[in-house]
Amino acid sequence: MEDAALNDTVNRTWRIARPIAGIPGRDDFALAPMPMPVPEDGQVLMRTIYISIAPGVRPMMPYASAAPDVAQGARREEIDDSNPNPSLIRVGDKMRSGIVPSDSPFAGGTVGQVIESRHPNYKPGDYIFGGRYWQDYEAVDGDASLKIDPAELPIEADLSLIGRSSFTGWVGWKFYCDGKPGETIVISAAAGNIGMLVVQLAKQAGLKVIGIASGADKCRFVTGELGADACIDRAQEDIGEALDRLAPEGVDIYFDNVGGKTRTAVYEKLRMFGRLIVCGMAAEYNGMESGVLTTGAILAKRLRIQGFVVLDNDGDYGDFRADMARMWREGKLVWRQHIFEGLESAPDALAACLSGRNTGGKILVRVSEDTSKTA
Ligand SMILES: NC(=O)c1ccc[n+]([C@@H]2O[C@H](COP(=O)([O-])OP(=O)(O)OC[C@H]3O[C@@H](n4cnc5c(N)ncnc54)[C@H](OP(=O)(O)O)[C@@H]3O)[C@@H](O)[C@H]2O)c1
Repeated sequence: MEDAALNDTVNRTWRIARPIAGIPGRDDFALAPMPMPVPEDGQVLMRTIYISIAPGVRPMMPYASAAPDVAQGARREEIDDSNPNPSLIRVGDKMRSGIVPSDSPFAGGTVGQVIESRHPNYKPGDYIFGGRYWQDYEAVDGDASLKIDPAELPIEADLSLIGRSSFTGWVGWKFYCDGKPGETIVISAAAGNIGMLVVQLAKQAGLKVIGIASGADKCRFVTGELGADACIDRAQEDIGEALDRLAPEGVDIYFDNVGGKTRTAVYEKLRMFGRLIVCGMAAEYNGMESGVLTTGAILAKRLRIQGFVVLDNDGDYGDFRADMARMWREGKLVWRQHIFEGLESAPDALAACLSGRNTGGKILVRVSEDTSKTA
């Protein structure tokens, strides 16, 4: 698919350069030229416009030392090399934006424009959601992609507003939190893609909402724009002390996006019949932090600990999309994106995502001109 070179200079791809210690940096990747892909029957050649940057890709990348507990994918390879996990990204592999390497049309992680089509549903000029890699051009399977209508929403919305991360927030809130008016919910990474949606859904449902984010600007976004009742700046405040002040009655629900020490601190404040909803462990993906929970409180406080994976809810995507479109039309949805410019900036964007050095909202890389906005 990629060996019939039309032009070796215009297409570039990021590859993993070495096993990575901690937060990935620029030297952990190598930007290399590659031949222009040639689409086969059923495929289209797309020009990448936006890449989604999400923390969940880190556990699939190689670790310089033993993989942390949260990196189940990496651990599986260590256990059985004859049956490697197809999700893993090894040294030398192309860096992926789509985390799930499946035939699902939701597995993509980039949005682009069709240059050449060998699939009946797409023609040159169409916009498409379906690329998987950090590169300029990609041949993608038309059946495992989605056509985008730029008149409906901005084309990058398939990675942000109605993308898989937002879908995760919606699923977690709707099916697992069991939030009731008057209850108190704490949401970590509250200014991030999933967090900013859950904050708004919980607030609309009448809960008292306390976000956690790093930095005064992101905290102002969480309270001032998303509508949370309070936001704890994890870079400045002790989370336990802040919760004693903000939720002296205790916490009913913790929507956990980060794991680590933050989870331990909020877990200790859960009240009777509290729920710990485990959505993600961004703080643990770099292998630099872990969180230990005591189990006695589970019985004494009748707690529920619930993990969930959005893949189990693919059938609910249509309802999610309709719900988001309704809220968007009614002006009930606040949204933010942090866009890094140029394919060269992709490693910096990932580092920002994994460390919290971002301005909040969905993190994207703009690889080439968004012609849907200039046409
Ligand atoms: N369950 C599922 O099916 C599913 C699906 C998709 C994603 N996820 C997970 O959901 C979580 C949120 O995803 P997202 O895309 O919305 O990411 P995100 O919030 O945009 O980015 C991750 C955020 O985590 C916070 N963070 C990073 N290191 C931290 C640390 N050491 N301690 C505390 N917080 C830290 C940072 O926010 P602040 O610096 O502002 O605190 C950072 O911006 C991730 O863990 C992701 O892997 C789960």
